[in-house]
Amino acid sequence: MVTKITESTSLVFLLAFCIALSGCKSTRHSNTVNTVDEPEYAFLAPTPPMGWNSWNVFAKDINEAKIKAAADAMVSSGMRDAGYQYLVLDDAWMAPKRDEQGVLQADPAKFPKGMKDIGDYIHSRGLKFGIYEDRAYRTCQSLPGSFGHEQIDMATFAAWGVDYIKMDSCSAEHNGRLSSEDYAIYRKYIEETGRRMVLSISDFGNGAWVWGGKETSQLWRTGWDIQPWMDSVYNCGDTSGGSHRSHPAFNGLWQFAGPGYWNDPDMLQVGNIKMEDDKVREAANKAHFGLWCILAAPLMAGNDLPNMTDTVRDILTAPEVIAVNQDVRGVQGYKVWVDGKLEVYNKPLADGTTGVLLLNKGREEADITVTWEMIGLSGKQRVRDLWERRDLGVFEGSFTAKALGEHGSMMLKIGKKGKPLPTAAPVPPEQHTVTREGVTSLSDLYYAWKNYNAPVYNRTFGGDLIVVDGEVVEKGFGCKSKAAFMFAGTERGDRLMGTVALDASYHGENEGRFRIFHEDYFGNRVLWDSGKMTKNSPPKEFDIELDGCNCLMLTFEGRTTKDGKQANDVLGVFADPRVIAYD
Ligand code: GLA
Repeated sequence: MVTKITESTSLVFLLAFCIALSGCKSTRHSNTVNTVDEPEYAFLAPTPPMGWNSWNVFAKDINEAKIKAAADAMVSSGMRDAGYQYLVLDDAWMAPKRDEQGVLQADPAKFPKGMKDIGDYIHSRGLKFGIYEDRAYRTCQSLPGSFGHEQIDMATFAAWGVDYIKMDSCSAEHNGRLSSEDYAIYRKYIEETGRRMVLSISDFGNGAWVWGGKETSQLWRTGWDIQPWMDSVYNCGDTSGGSHRSHPAFNGLWQFAGPGYWNDPDMLQVGNIKMEDDKVREAANKAHFGLWCILAAPLMAGNDLPNMTDTVRDILTAPEVIAVNQDVRGVQGYKVWVDGKLEVYNKPLADGTTGVLLLNKGREEADITVTWEMIGLSGKQRVRDLWERRDLGVFEGSFTAKALGEHGSMMLKIGKKGKPLPTAAPVPPEQHTVTREGVTSLSDLYYAWKNYNAPVYNRTFGGDLIVVDGEVVEKGFGCKSKAAFMFAGTERGDRLMGTVALDASYHGENEGRFRIFHEDYFGNRVLWDSGKMTKNSPPKEFDIELDGCNCLMLTFEGRTTKDGKQANDVLGVFADPRVIAYD
């Protein structure tokens, strides 16, 4: 099936965008001046952060020698000069215990001279110092987390000269705080130190774009941990650029990113991908890097820098490909055409041209064509190959990349300099948030985040009419366990009402449980819980006071009656879930 994703040429939107762009520009030129209504930290990452992080290559096995060698290699390889600024120490830099005053300590065997020494070394190489922590009582590697030590840890990091904090979320479901509250605490204590520090939300993609990550942080994860193989790379890419994490109407998360705040599909595995064939491996590394660049993703290299091959170095430092990622307009690219494993992405740039990625995610050789119509152009246009740094000529109507092999791609710049091209149309607020007085059916809104099985709108999961107590219900969601989905911007609402039941077509013995949360799983703020329901349970109604809930998560989970383990076959419905706004 060939899908054409429509490009809007809406002048109204273009105008709004240009106004927004010029607004950002005036502040971006200065490191210190704020706009009236935006705090300074909104401009800590005007373009996607670039750097290197220790996790993908070393995991827990880091030490002073490896980190200093990485710093040296960032300089000698040309990575620093290509734009990679931050050198981030991930988990397992710390000692298993804080000192008597509660101050975090470096692991004495790994970092005998302490973290300030590492920071000084990183700075002496003209780089910035990044560090990892976790917002729970322990990190993902069971080392001391920051929970209960938020203020002292931010002050400690400032004293060590830290410039960037990756704040992870393992065990954060025990914090008793919403994710938005947690990250606001870190931002507050960071601000108190007076040191400019980027805050990176690491939470396996729990919807920071929905619950307000940009109020406190500069980037947020959109998915699970990336692995060094291409299925994982493409999967992570699709959490940000595809529909793995959001309703297909959004066409990826592009509308939730912009100068100052970025969707993070996770760190790069360029250089770590294992493949026998040198040519296919090179193509895969380029496909991965090009995809991250077109998606305006943070570029955190994760390979063994002192030992990287020239080919990998050339990919990571390709200036014209990086320029697309770092474009000051800060539009995240989005898909404009998909046919099976073949994809075309578009990223309109500040200078009036547009960045285009043609990508073959499959194994079969294929031609891929970008038509000017897909990218808002017409007539004759210049095309430049950004990997080869070579003009390909002037083309009328379209350009075709011929015989792209396994993981084959081309990164192009198309068009003339001039007025910025329009982007696609974002989903307007009234289609994904509660904007009006009275009743808003949740099934008239697009969910902005989801995990596991996507809900089916206004039908059961199997596509039948929703029937509750013998009556057909027009609105609602059909779910198959396990399902979780989130709606943004519900603070306008006063109440949430509706009914739940197992689906009439479900004849199994397993149990289903419906829950409604304020925000994400980590917040663990359950507003309503159906308890266990079987096919014989009568429908249950809910009527919840919302009291300023900025977003809502609906979940449906199955349990086997035999051993209490998860059951993935249970079918249930949220019938007529609706938000009521009184005035
Ligand atoms: C989580 C994060 C990873 C890494 C590890 C460290 O899994 O998502 O990026 O930081 O923790 O333990």
